[in-house]
Amino acid sequence: MCASISGFSKLSKSKKIDWIVETYFSNTEDAKRILKQYWNSNDKLQQLHDEFIENTITNYYLPLGVAPNFLINGKLYTIPMAIEESSVVAAASKAAKFWMDRGGFKTKVISTTKIGQVHFMFYGNPETLKNYFKHIKSQLIYDAKPITKNMEKRGGGILDIELRDKTHDIKGYYQLHASFETLEAMGANFINSCLEQFAKTFKNEAFHFDAFTEEEKQIQIVMSILSNYVPDCLVRAEVSCKVEDLNEDKTISAEEFVTKFIQAVNIAEVEPFRAVTHNKGIMNGIDAVVLATGNDFRAVEAGVHAYASRNGAYSSLSHANIENGIFTFWMEIPLALGTIGGLTGLHPLVKLSLELLHHPTAKELMQIVAVAGLAQNFAALRSLTTTGIQQGHMKMHLMNILNQFEATETEKTTLIEHFKTNVVTHSAVVEAIHQLRMKN
Ligand code: HMG
Repeated sequence: MCASISGFSKLSKSKKIDWIVETYFSNTEDAKRILKQYWNSNDKLQQLHDEFIENTITNYYLPLGVAPNFLINGKLYTIPMAIEESSVVAAASKAAKFWMDRGGFKTKVISTTKIGQVHFMFYGNPETLKNYFKHIKSQLIYDAKPITKNMEKRGGGILDIELRDKTHDIKGYYQLHASFETLEAMGANFINSCLEQFAKTFKNEAFHFDAFTEEEKQIQIVMSILSNYVPDCLVRAEVSCKVEDLNEDKTISAEEFVTKFIQAVNIAEVEPFRAVTHNKGIMNGIDAVVLATGNDFRAVEAGVHAYASRNGAYSSLSHANIENGIFTFWMEIPLALGTIGGLTGLHPLVKLSLELLHHPTAKELMQIVAVAGLAQNFAALRSLTTTGIQQGHMKMHLMNILNQFEATETEKTTLIEHFKTNVVTHSAVVEAIHQLRMKN
């Protein structure tokens, strides 16, 4: 039976579970057991997780893996990755190892500016509005001082506020378009608090601006919110080596490999159907590190894909070329990340991941995350243009199929050995399990 409920949020965790299992599950005891199986035996740790979100009933685990051997600007890293998809960590590790022997990854933070906007409606004289903005701009910044003073002490804060006329898009629509430097914080709370203060000052002070008519004094604030599109919070990651050094695969010459690799990148640059999958491969690496370090992967995803479309068509985030016999593969992407605030000081595994990364600054984390994306892209393109993706991916996915069929440890050992010399496909694994069980 399905039902609606009022006051669910006010129930205790155990009453919430009772309602869920009784309303939606035929085997209530089984459903309860599964939910409770994932509770942490440490009550304090469990409570911490319960309080991250609302209406928590259990924990949803993701594996946390590590990819070693990342040489970034001459420093070695082991990168933590939280992800459910098999072969991503192996691919990152393989690419890291490959590039470690070829000079490693070079990275650079290009800019770190973040954006927030107050969206408002004004139907009066645009010139008078411009004058009002000039008159009020310093007060907008001054009134936000209680929010910005600590950030300013650390060297960040509000960089600028512009008035933007958007009336060509929507009648009466304007913005206060503000830019911020938030240093080690991702900055969402800081930016939103500043914006809400700007909106308050902007609306209230309009009543005292003599050049406005009575109607013009009624500025309508629609909303105040940061933008997750951060094209000026940009990081570059690249690898390069002599073409002849791309010679690891026995089945293909370095020249043929590099030609196919660059063709694959070029295709993703011009063909949106391919670009989406190409960039998905990049996000395999990026999201996994963003999640492991307690950052907001939805914000990163939204911003990165908007950036991939910045020229009017969705395109590849990465690029490759050969100049004077040197192959270069690179990517520039927007990443608004934090190493303080949010989950970073709360989640024990996030703290551990950040320690594993030598307690990076936000700028360093941007570089590490970008590298994970580029490495992932390199590994995927290398497989795609040589063996095909399925060989390596299915080799890693084998364990999932074996688990699906509840293979015993002995069966797993036998079948892993068997598939070292046989191609892994879902049906081949099913057949092999079947044969093995027939024998025994
Ligand atoms: P391989 O050559 O069979 O691996 O590659 P290997 O057994 O010879 O080992 C070589 C190295 O790979 C190892 O070195 C590890 O670094 C790593 P070692 O540690 O031995 O010194 N490695 C592993 N690391 C951890 N656990 C493992 C493991 N196995 C190897 N079990 C591999 C196998 C999967 C790495 C390779 O085939 C590969 O890189 N494939 C690409 C896989 C991939 O991209 N997966 C993402 C999912 S597919 C997708 O969603 C994206 C896509 O659609 C994007 C696009 O289209 O562009 C493809």
